[in-house]
Amino acid sequence: MRRVYMDANATTPLLPEVLEAMRPYWMEHFGNASSIHLPGQQARTAVDHARESMAEFFNCHEAEVVFNSGGTEGDNTAIFGLLHPGDHFITTSIEHSAVLQAAQRLAQRGVETSFIGPRPNGLIDPSDILRAIRPETRLISVMLANNETGVIQPVEQIGKIAADTGVFFHIDAVQGAGKIPIDVRAIGCHLLSISAHKMHGPKGVGAMFVRRGTPVESLLVGGSHERRRRAGTENVAGIVGLGKATELAAHSLEDGTIDRLSGLRYKLETELLKMSGTGVNGARDPGAPGPDSLAWESVPRVANTTNIWFDQLEGEALVIALDLKGVAVSGGSACHSGATEPSHVLMAMGLDKARARASLRFSLLKTATEADVHYVLDVVPEAVERLRALSPVEAGTLG
Ligand SMILES: Cc1ncc(COP(=O)(O)O)c(C=O)c1O
Repeated sequence: MRRVYMDANATTPLLPEVLEAMRPYWMEHFGNASSIHLPGQQARTAVDHARESMAEFFNCHEAEVVFNSGGTEGDNTAIFGLLHPGDHFITTSIEHSAVLQAAQRLAQRGVETSFIGPRPNGLIDPSDILRAIRPETRLISVMLANNETGVIQPVEQIGKIAADTGVFFHIDAVQGAGKIPIDVRAIGCHLLSISAHKMHGPKGVGAMFVRRGTPVESLLVGGSHERRRRAGTENVAGIVGLGKATELAAHSLEDGTIDRLSGLRYKLETELLKMSGTGVNGARDPGAPGPDSLAWESVPRVANTTNIWFDQLEGEALVIALDLKGVAVSGGSACHSGATEPSHVLMAMGLDKARARASLRFSLLKTATEADVHYVLDVVPEAVERLRALSPVEAGTLG
Protein backbone atom coordinates (compact mmCIF):
# COMPACT_ATOMS: atom_id res chain seq x y z
CA MET A 1 0.00 0.00 0.00
CA ARG A 2 1.16 3.52 -0.75
CA ARG A 3 2.03 5.59 2.32
CA VAL A 4 1.65 9.36 2.37
CA TYR A 5 2.71 11.30 5.44
CA MET A 6 0.84 14.59 5.70
CA ASP A 7 1.52 15.35 9.35
CA ALA A 8 4.66 17.47 9.04
CA ASN A 9 3.51 19.82 11.80
CA ALA A 10 3.69 16.89 14.25
CA THR A 11 7.21 15.98 13.18
CA THR A 12 9.41 15.53 10.12
CA PRO A 13 11.99 12.91 9.11
CA LEU A 14 15.71 13.72 9.03
CA LEU A 15 16.97 14.75 5.63
CA PRO A 16 19.86 12.48 4.52
CA GLU A 17 22.32 15.40 4.68
CA VAL A 18 21.35 15.96 8.32
CA LEU A 19 21.96 12.34 9.25
CA GLU A 20 25.33 12.40 7.45
CA ALA A 21 26.38 15.57 9.27
CA MET A 22 25.46 14.05 12.64
CA ARG A 23 26.96 10.60 12.10
CA PRO A 24 30.59 11.27 13.20
CA TYR A 25 29.51 12.88 16.47
CA TRP A 26 28.26 9.73 18.17
CA MET A 27 31.35 7.53 17.81
CA GLU A 28 34.30 9.07 16.01
CA HIS A 29 34.09 12.57 17.49
CA PHE A 30 32.31 11.73 20.72
CA GLY A 31 34.09 14.34 22.86
CA ASN A 32 32.51 16.54 25.50
CA ALA A 33 32.45 20.08 24.12
CA SER A 34 33.64 21.37 27.51
CA SER A 35 36.87 19.30 27.52
CA ILE A 36 40.13 20.98 26.59
CA HIS A 37 41.74 18.02 24.80
CA LEU A 38 41.47 17.37 21.06
CA PRO A 39 38.27 15.24 21.11
CA GLY A 40 36.65 17.96 23.24
CA GLN A 41 37.80 20.68 20.90
CA GLN A 42 36.45 18.80 17.88
CA ALA A 43 33.05 18.71 19.56
CA ARG A 44 33.33 22.40 20.51
CA THR A 45 34.15 23.37 16.91
CA ALA A 46 31.08 21.49 15.68
CA VAL A 47 28.83 23.22 18.23
CA ASP A 48 30.34 26.60 17.31
CA HIS A 49 29.66 25.95 13.64
CA ALA A 50 26.01 25.12 14.38
CA ARG A 51 25.78 28.29 16.46
CA GLU A 52 26.98 30.34 13.49
CA SER A 53 24.27 28.75 11.31
CA MET A 54 21.61 29.54 13.92
CA ALA A 55 22.79 33.13 14.32
CA GLU A 56 22.58 33.66 10.57
CA PHE A 57 19.12 32.07 10.49
CA PHE A 58 17.79 34.32 13.27
CA ASN A 59 19.84 37.39 12.20
CA CYS A 60 21.41 37.70 15.63
CA HIS A 61 24.82 37.50 17.28
CA GLU A 62 26.25 34.04 17.99
CA ALA A 63 26.34 34.83 21.72
CA GLU A 64 22.55 35.24 21.59
CA VAL A 65 21.94 31.59 20.59
CA VAL A 66 21.23 29.04 23.34
CA PHE A 67 20.90 25.35 22.48
CA ASN A 68 18.35 23.33 24.42
CA SER A 69 16.07 20.29 24.13
CA GLY A 70 13.40 21.81 21.88
CA GLY A 71 10.29 23.93 21.70
CA THR A 72 8.80 22.96 25.04
CA GLU A 73 11.97 23.90 26.88
CA GLY A 74 12.29 27.18 24.99
CA ASP A 75 8.70 28.18 25.78
CA ASN A 76 9.07 27.13 29.44
CA THR A 77 12.37 28.99 29.77
CA ALA A 78 10.93 32.25 28.48
CA ILE A 79 7.93 32.05 30.79
CA PHE A 80 9.39 30.62 34.01
CA GLY A 81 12.68 32.45 33.46
CA LEU A 82 11.19 35.93 33.27
CA LEU A 83 7.99 35.98 35.33
CA HIS A 84 7.84 36.43 39.10
CA PRO A 85 4.95 36.67 41.58
CA GLY A 86 3.01 39.87 40.98
CA ASP A 87 3.91 40.05 37.29
CA HIS A 88 1.29 40.03 34.56
CA PHE A 89 1.69 37.84 31.48
CA ILE A 90 -0.06 38.19 28.10
CA THR A 91 -0.37 35.30 25.70
CA THR A 92 -3.02 33.94 23.34
CA SER A 93 -5.61 31.23 23.70
CA ILE A 94 -4.28 29.46 20.57
CA GLU A 95 -0.75 28.76 21.86
CA HIS A 96 0.77 25.31 22.17
CA SER A 97 0.30 23.58 25.52
CA ALA A 98 3.99 24.28 26.29
CA VAL A 99 2.90 27.89 26.79
CA LEU A 100 -0.65 27.37 28.08
CA GLN A 101 0.34 24.84 30.75
CA ALA A 102 3.24 27.03 31.87
CA ALA A 103 0.80 29.91 32.31
CA GLN A 104 -1.49 27.66 34.32
CA ARG A 105 1.34 26.69 36.66
CA LEU A 106 2.32 30.33 37.08
CA ALA A 107 -1.21 31.16 38.20
CA GLN A 108 -0.48 29.10 41.34
CA ARG A 109 2.62 31.27 41.90
CA GLY A 110 0.87 34.62 41.73
CA VAL A 111 1.36 35.47 38.07
CA GLU A 112 -1.85 36.45 36.33
CA THR A 113 -2.22 35.74 32.62
CA SER A 114 -4.45 37.40 30.03
CA PHE A 115 -5.30 35.05 27.18
CA ILE A 116 -6.04 36.95 23.98
CA GLY A 117 -8.47 35.19 21.66
CA PRO A 118 -8.11 35.14 17.86
CA ARG A 119 -10.50 36.52 15.27
CA PRO A 120 -12.64 33.86 13.54
CA ASN A 121 -9.98 33.70 10.81
CA GLY A 122 -7.34 32.62 13.33
CA LEU A 123 -5.46 35.93 13.49
CA ILE A 124 -4.58 37.66 16.73
CA ASP A 125 -5.36 41.37 16.60
CA PRO A 126 -2.35 43.34 17.94
CA SER A 127 -4.67 46.02 19.29
CA ASP A 128 -6.18 43.40 21.64
CA ILE A 129 -2.67 42.85 23.00
CA LEU A 130 -2.09 46.55 23.42
CA ARG A 131 -5.36 46.90 25.33
CA ALA A 132 -4.38 44.08 27.72
CA ILE A 133 -1.10 45.71 28.78
CA ARG A 134 -0.96 46.91 32.41
CA PRO A 135 1.79 48.58 34.43
CA GLU A 136 2.81 45.17 35.84
CA THR A 137 2.87 43.37 32.45
CA ARG A 138 6.34 41.85 32.05
CA LEU A 139 6.06 39.41 29.15
CA ILE A 140 4.07 38.87 25.95
CA SER A 141 4.32 35.46 24.27
CA VAL A 142 2.77 34.89 20.84
CA MET A 143 3.42 32.13 18.34
CA LEU A 144 4.78 32.86 14.87
CA ALA A 145 2.57 30.33 13.09
CA ASN A 146 -0.19 28.24 14.57
CA ASN A 147 0.46 24.49 14.56
CA GLU A 148 -3.13 23.59 13.71
CA THR A 149 -4.18 26.20 11.16
CA GLY A 150 -0.80 27.46 9.91
CA VAL A 151 -2.02 31.06 10.37
CA ILE A 152 0.94 33.45 10.65
CA GLN A 153 0.58 35.98 13.44
CA PRO A 154 1.46 39.70 13.09
CA VAL A 155 4.58 39.46 15.26
CA GLU A 156 6.25 42.57 13.85
CA GLN A 157 3.31 44.72 14.96
CA ILE A 158 3.29 43.01 18.35
CA GLY A 159 7.05 43.54 18.61
CA LYS A 160 6.52 47.24 18.08
CA ILE A 161 3.87 47.33 20.81
CA ALA A 162 6.25 45.49 23.18
CA ALA A 163 9.05 47.95 22.40
CA ASP A 164 6.81 50.99 22.85
CA THR A 165 5.50 49.77 26.20
CA GLY A 166 8.75 48.29 27.55
CA VAL A 167 7.45 44.72 27.82
CA PHE A 168 9.53 41.61 27.03
CA PHE A 169 8.38 39.69 23.95
CA HIS A 170 8.81 35.94 23.34
CA ILE A 171 7.89 34.18 20.11
CA ASP A 172 7.21 30.46 19.83
CA ALA A 173 8.54 30.07 16.28
CA VAL A 174 8.45 26.26 16.30
CA GLN A 175 5.96 26.07 13.41
CA GLY A 176 7.22 29.10 11.50
CA ALA A 177 10.91 28.21 11.37
CA GLY A 178 11.93 26.92 7.97
CA LYS A 179 8.57 27.89 6.47
CA ILE A 180 8.92 31.68 6.55
CA PRO A 181 12.02 33.85 7.12
CA ILE A 182 12.79 34.88 10.69
CA ASP A 183 14.56 38.14 11.52
CA VAL A 184 14.67 38.78 15.25
CA ARG A 185 16.06 42.29 14.76
CA ALA A 186 13.24 43.30 12.42
CA ILE A 187 10.64 41.79 14.77
CA GLY A 188 12.24 43.30 17.84
CA CYS A 189 11.61 40.28 20.09
CA HIS A 190 13.69 39.44 23.17
CA LEU A 191 13.29 35.66 23.00
CA LEU A 192 12.37 33.18 20.29
CA SER A 193 12.14 29.38 20.43
CA ILE A 194 12.53 26.77 17.72
CA SER A 195 12.66 22.98 17.57
CA ALA A 196 14.81 20.85 15.22
CA HIS A 197 12.35 18.03 14.62
CA LYS A 198 9.79 20.28 12.94
CA MET A 199 12.34 21.21 10.27
CA HIS A 200 13.89 17.87 9.29
CA GLY A 201 16.32 17.80 12.20
CA PRO A 202 16.49 15.36 15.14
CA LYS A 203 14.00 15.18 18.01
CA GLY A 204 14.93 16.43 21.46
CA VAL A 205 17.03 19.41 20.40
CA GLY A 206 16.22 23.04 19.74
CA ALA A 207 17.51 26.55 20.13
CA MET A 208 16.52 29.90 21.51
CA PHE A 209 17.39 33.41 20.56
CA VAL A 210 17.96 35.37 23.78
CA ARG A 211 18.59 39.04 23.12
CA ARG A 212 21.68 40.31 24.88
CA GLY A 213 20.83 41.68 28.31
CA THR A 214 17.48 39.87 28.65
CA PRO A 215 17.33 38.82 32.33
CA VAL A 216 15.97 35.32 31.76
CA GLU A 217 16.88 32.80 34.47
CA SER A 218 17.93 29.35 33.32
CA LEU A 219 15.55 26.48 34.02
CA LEU A 220 18.39 24.04 34.60
CA VAL A 221 21.32 24.75 36.85
CA GLY A 222 24.59 22.87 37.04
CA GLY A 223 27.60 23.40 34.79
CA SER A 224 28.36 26.67 33.04
CA HIS A 225 27.28 25.47 29.60
CA GLU A 226 25.74 27.89 27.11
CA ARG A 227 27.15 30.88 29.03
CA ARG A 228 25.31 29.72 32.16
CA ARG A 229 21.95 29.98 30.42
CA ARG A 230 21.31 26.22 30.08
CA ALA A 231 23.21 23.71 32.17
CA GLY A 232 23.89 20.19 30.88
CA THR A 233 26.45 18.59 28.58
CA GLU A 234 25.71 19.70 25.03
CA ASN A 235 23.91 17.20 22.80
CA VAL A 236 26.66 17.57 20.20
CA ALA A 237 25.25 15.28 17.50
CA GLY A 238 21.79 16.80 17.97
CA ILE A 239 23.14 20.35 17.78
CA VAL A 240 25.09 19.46 14.62
CA GLY A 241 21.87 18.04 13.16
CA LEU A 242 19.95 21.19 14.07
CA GLY A 243 22.67 23.34 12.50
CA LYS A 244 22.58 21.36 9.26
CA ALA A 245 18.77 21.28 9.18
CA THR A 246 18.79 25.05 9.67
CA GLU A 247 21.18 25.60 6.75
CA LEU A 248 18.99 23.44 4.52
CA ALA A 249 15.83 25.19 5.74
CA ALA A 250 17.35 28.60 4.98
CA HIS A 251 18.19 27.39 1.49
CA SER A 252 14.71 26.00 0.94
CA LEU A 253 13.23 29.41 1.72
CA GLU A 254 14.95 30.72 -1.39
CA ASP A 255 15.08 27.88 -3.89
CA GLY A 256 11.41 27.71 -4.88
CA THR A 257 10.49 24.94 -2.40
CA ILE A 258 7.94 27.10 -0.61
CA ASP A 259 6.20 28.12 -3.85
CA ARG A 260 6.06 24.50 -4.94
CA LEU A 261 4.59 23.51 -1.57
CA SER A 262 2.10 26.33 -1.75
CA GLY A 263 0.97 25.06 -5.16
CA LEU A 264 0.50 21.53 -3.80
CA ARG A 265 -1.46 22.83 -0.81
CA TYR A 266 -3.65 24.92 -3.13
CA LYS A 267 -4.41 21.87 -5.27
CA LEU A 268 -5.21 19.75 -2.21
CA GLU A 269 -7.37 22.40 -0.61
CA THR A 270 -9.36 23.43 -3.66
CA GLU A 271 -10.10 19.83 -4.61
CA LEU A 272 -11.14 18.85 -1.06
CA LEU A 273 -13.38 21.90 -0.83
CA LYS A 274 -15.35 20.65 -3.83
CA MET A 275 -16.95 18.15 -1.43
CA SER A 276 -20.15 19.35 0.23
CA GLY A 277 -20.05 20.37 3.88
CA THR A 278 -16.38 21.35 3.93
CA GLY A 279 -14.45 24.53 4.65
CA VAL A 280 -11.04 25.83 5.71
CA ASN A 281 -10.23 26.78 9.29
CA GLY A 282 -7.82 29.68 9.44
CA ALA A 283 -9.74 31.63 6.89
CA ARG A 284 -13.27 32.92 6.74
CA ASP A 285 -15.85 31.22 4.64
CA PRO A 286 -15.46 32.74 1.18
CA GLY A 287 -18.21 35.30 0.76
CA ALA A 288 -18.77 35.67 4.50
CA PRO A 289 -19.93 39.16 5.50
CA GLY A 290 -17.39 41.52 6.99
CA PRO A 291 -14.51 43.73 5.92
CA ASP A 292 -12.31 42.57 3.04
CA SER A 293 -9.29 42.51 5.32
CA LEU A 294 -10.77 39.38 6.89
CA ALA A 295 -11.34 37.61 3.57
CA TRP A 296 -10.00 34.13 2.98
CA GLU A 297 -7.02 34.94 0.77
CA SER A 298 -5.82 37.75 2.99
CA VAL A 299 -5.09 35.47 5.96
CA PRO A 300 -1.39 34.65 5.84
CA ARG A 301 -0.64 30.98 6.38
CA VAL A 302 2.52 28.88 6.18
CA ALA A 303 2.61 27.09 2.81
CA ASN A 304 2.39 23.52 4.04
CA THR A 305 -0.72 23.56 6.23
CA THR A 306 -4.45 23.37 5.66
CA ASN A 307 -7.07 22.64 8.29
CA ILE A 308 -10.38 21.51 6.84
CA TRP A 309 -13.74 20.67 8.40
CA PHE A 310 -15.82 17.84 6.99
CA ASP A 311 -19.29 18.26 8.44
CA GLN A 312 -21.31 15.28 9.63
CA LEU A 313 -18.41 13.14 10.70
CA GLU A 314 -15.94 12.68 13.56
CA GLY A 315 -12.45 13.84 12.64
CA GLU A 316 -10.89 11.03 14.69
CA ALA A 317 -12.84 8.44 12.67
CA LEU A 318 -11.56 9.99 9.46
CA VAL A 319 -7.97 10.00 10.79
CA ILE A 320 -8.27 6.26 11.44
CA ALA A 321 -9.97 5.54 8.09
CA LEU A 322 -7.21 7.41 6.26
CA ASP A 323 -4.49 5.68 8.26
CA LEU A 324 -5.90 2.35 7.08
CA LYS A 325 -5.44 3.67 3.53
CA GLY A 326 -1.84 4.68 4.26
CA VAL A 327 -2.43 8.40 4.77
CA ALA A 328 -1.16 9.99 8.00
CA VAL A 329 -2.95 13.20 9.00
CA SER A 330 -4.00 14.66 12.30
CA GLY A 331 -7.16 15.86 13.98
CA GLY A 332 -6.37 18.89 16.08
CA SER A 333 -2.84 19.08 17.45
CA ALA A 334 -0.81 15.90 17.85
CA CYS A 335 -0.42 16.39 21.57
CA HIS A 336 -4.19 16.25 21.93
CA SER A 337 -5.06 13.39 19.63
CA GLY A 338 -6.71 10.63 21.54
CA ALA A 339 -8.19 13.16 23.95
CA THR A 340 -11.93 13.62 23.65
CA GLU A 341 -11.87 17.40 23.94
CA PRO A 342 -12.05 19.24 20.61
CA SER A 343 -9.15 21.46 19.58
CA HIS A 344 -8.75 24.52 21.84
CA VAL A 345 -7.48 26.47 18.84
CA LEU A 346 -10.57 25.85 16.71
CA MET A 347 -12.88 26.44 19.66
CA ALA A 348 -11.13 29.76 20.34
CA MET A 349 -11.74 30.70 16.70
CA GLY A 350 -15.45 30.30 17.35
CA LEU A 351 -16.21 26.89 15.88
CA ASP A 352 -18.77 24.85 17.77
CA LYS A 353 -17.73 21.47 19.18
CA ALA A 354 -19.20 19.46 16.31
CA ARG A 355 -17.30 21.38 13.64
CA ALA A 356 -14.09 21.46 15.67
CA ARG A 357 -14.35 17.68 16.07
CA ALA A 358 -15.00 17.33 12.34
CA SER A 359 -11.74 19.10 11.43
CA LEU A 360 -8.54 17.61 10.11
CA ARG A 361 -5.08 19.06 9.66
CA PHE A 362 -3.12 18.20 6.51
CA SER A 363 0.49 19.38 6.82
CA LEU A 364 2.80 18.63 3.92
CA LEU A 365 6.47 17.73 4.15
CA LYS A 366 8.82 19.78 1.99
CA THR A 367 9.48 16.59 0.10
CA ALA A 368 5.76 16.12 -0.75
CA THR A 369 5.03 15.30 -4.39
CA GLU A 370 2.11 15.75 -6.79
CA ALA A 371 1.60 11.99 -6.60
CA ASP A 372 1.17 12.28 -2.80
CA VAL A 373 -1.52 14.90 -3.26
CA HIS A 374 -3.27 12.84 -5.93
CA TYR A 375 -3.31 9.81 -3.69
CA VAL A 376 -4.80 11.79 -0.81
CA LEU A 377 -7.40 13.25 -3.17
CA ASP A 378 -8.26 9.72 -4.25
CA VAL A 379 -8.83 8.36 -0.76
CA VAL A 380 -10.29 11.28 1.23
CA PRO A 381 -13.62 11.81 -0.62
CA GLU A 382 -14.31 8.11 -0.58
CA ALA A 383 -13.59 7.82 3.15
CA VAL A 384 -15.65 10.91 3.93
CA GLU A 385 -18.66 9.65 2.01
CA ARG A 386 -18.43 6.22 3.63
CA LEU A 387 -18.23 7.64 7.15
CA ARG A 388 -21.04 10.10 6.56
CA ALA A 389 -23.24 7.29 5.29
CA LEU A 390 -22.31 4.93 8.14
CA SER A 391 -22.72 7.17 11.13
CA PRO A 392 -23.74 10.69 10.31
CA VAL A 393 -23.28 13.19 13.11
CA GLU A 394 -24.97 16.53 13.24
CA ALA A 395 -23.33 19.22 11.12
CA GLY A 396 -21.48 21.87 13.07
CA THR A 397 -21.52 25.59 12.62
CA LEU A 398 -19.24 28.52 13.06
CA GLY A 399 -20.07 28.97 16.71
C1 LIG B 1 3.81 25.69 18.23
C2 LIG B 1 4.58 24.64 19.00
N1 LIG B 1 5.27 25.01 20.08
C3 LIG B 1 5.98 24.13 20.80
C4 LIG B 1 6.02 22.80 20.45
C5 LIG B 1 6.82 21.85 21.29
O1 LIG B 1 8.04 21.56 20.65
P1 LIG B 1 8.90 20.28 21.06
O2 LIG B 1 8.19 19.10 20.46
O3 LIG B 1 10.23 20.49 20.44
O4 LIG B 1 8.97 20.24 22.53
C6 LIG B 1 5.30 22.37 19.34
C7 LIG B 1 5.26 20.94 18.96
O5 LIG B 1 4.26 20.43 18.50
C8 LIG B 1 4.57 23.32 18.58
O6 LIG B 1 3.86 22.97 17.50
